Amino acid sequence: MSSDQPDGAIEFRSDNCAGVAPQIMEALTAANNGSALAYGGDRWTEELREVVCEAFNAPDAQIFPVSSGTAANSLALAGMCPPWGSVLCHETAHIYKNECGATSMFGAGAVMRGLPGDGFKLQPDSIRAAFESTNWGDPHHSQPSVVSFTCPTDMGTVYTPQELADVVTVAAEKGLKVHLDGARLANAIAALHCAPTAITTDVGVDAFSLGAIKNGAMSTDAIVSLDPEISEQLLYRTKRAGHVASKMRYQSVQLIEYLRDGRWVKLGRQANAAMTELSRGLRDRDIELLAEPQANMAFVRLPNAVHAAWAASGVLFYDMGPDTIRLVTSWQTTPDDVEAALHRLDLVLAAAR
Ligand SMILES: Cc1ncc(COP(=O)(O)O)c(C=O)c1O
Repeated sequence: MSSDQPDGAIEFRSDNCAGVAPQIMEALTAANNGSALAYGGDRWTEELREVVCEAFNAPDAQIFPVSSGTAANSLALAGMCPPWGSVLCHETAHIYKNECGATSMFGAGAVMRGLPGDGFKLQPDSIRAAFESTNWGDPHHSQPSVVSFTCPTDMGTVYTPQELADVVTVAAEKGLKVHLDGARLANAIAALHCAPTAITTDVGVDAFSLGAIKNGAMSTDAIVSLDPEISEQLLYRTKRAGHVASKMRYQSVQLIEYLRDGRWVKLGRQANAAMTELSRGLRDRDIELLAEPQANMAFVRLPNAVHAAWAASGVLFYDMGPDTIRLVTSWQTTPDDVEAALHRLDLVLAAAR
């Protein structure tokens, strides 16, 4: 048996379910040769630093490989926010809803404030409203210290560089640092057809999570810091959290291969293209999408009985509550997968009529 999918199943549960891109697997095997200095003292980690500085046009950038997106977000935010500070984020943000308070733990009590915003994006007005409702300098209140945005958002929408620039401008009015949850950064860059710098370095992000696991890597994401003070903190914080791998070469080689020749964006583009086709097919069948899927994720309104029958036909996805499902494509999703899934949906819809 080659995977834990039932025969004929089509995978839309999560991009975390996808395998490892073959080039990354090959690079891992090639690096698995002889010994190398531990804890990042190896030649691959040195090369990775150069690759990242070049990719993000940031000579002072520092990269810290970690083993999950949650570790990347929470350790970066802990390094950006004082214990008495708050992180302003969208009310649907993964750091707020789905990380079990990891930032508060690593941040010695730093708190999250979830803000509303159309399109599941932070808006300048809601950040300003949060500023206005803060008693600045009052030790009875957490002090807003960081603005964190997620791109693509947890609902599959994508900020434009201008929307990001507007958020950063408001953050700068009060001297807040800016963090990006880039668990799917490649999908955002592919969706925007922009350079990697356009939503990171160029808009004034101070640190970001560089997701790789969901998009073809095996076991590493990373934090990229563009601010030497944050980098200094991360040097120690990653170690204290147990995220400095002794055999870091295996993480570094994955990330080098991931970033090499824009592979990460190509993989992200494949995932997005599959979602474009899938969502077009759903719309053609008059099925409601909760938001415009701009990257590789869609939330879809589908009666329970219909989605149960679609699932029974071997299409895998997450049930998100009454009459709602989540579909996620990955670099591995093929046009045939999309076509077959839509065909099975047609059979289900015909049977329901
Ligand atoms: C937007 C976003 N950020 C962060 C994470 C956390 O990644 P991990 O599950 O590797 O901790 C996820 C995971 O699904 C995510 O969707």
